[in-house]
Amino acid sequence: MALLAPGRSIVLIGLMGAGKSTVGRLVAARLGRPFRDTDAVVEHVAGATVAELFATEGERGFRDREAAAVRDVAALRGQVVAVGGGAVLRSANVTQLRSTGDLILLEADPSALAARLAAADEGDARPLLHDADVAATLRRLWAERDAAYRAAAGHLIDTTERTPEEVAQDVLEWARDVPGLLSLEERAS
Ligand code: S3P
Repeated sequence: MALLAPGRSIVLIGLMGAGKSTVGRLVAARLGRPFRDTDAVVEHVAGATVAELFATEGERGFRDREAAAVRDVAALRGQVVAVGGGAVLRSANVTQLRSTGDLILLEADPSALAARLAAADEGDARPLLHDADVAATLRRLWAERDAAYRAAAGHLIDTTERTPEEVAQDVLEWARDVPGLLSLEERAS
């Protein structure tokens, strides 16, 4: 039986293209923690992709499923979690995530986000960007959401012109200084 409770979860928030999943996987691997992504939880539970859910249930249906996924991931400590870009718009989601984790905002210039998403070429995976001017849509979402992101997060990292490995290193350095976030073993690693 483990004598020490796992540390709090590390929760990555930010706009689409910020690198939450890529960086989250790297951080999880470095710490030996499980990695979870709310979009993947939604897709697993629904047996359908995010794009399919937007098409069949609308954004409202997807957001309700996302809130359930947030409750699910927030139930456990000791994870690294990437949260879909719109989840912080519901304050209940932020409250849930904060109950077992510390939130960090990955930021980048909207045009850098657009370039990353274009390079990743994930087709129609992101319905809010489908058939849209991606850079313009990201600029609008950034204007709508930036205050909510900043209010939710305890710390932010500018990821513009930084590699996922560099950002993961920044996250780990931040995590070392947050009381209760890393276990003794993780701090020593
Ligand atoms: C969304 C972000 C996506 C996904 C959905 C809506 C948003 O997740 O949840 O397409 O509203 O910003 P990522 O931020 O992981 O791309």
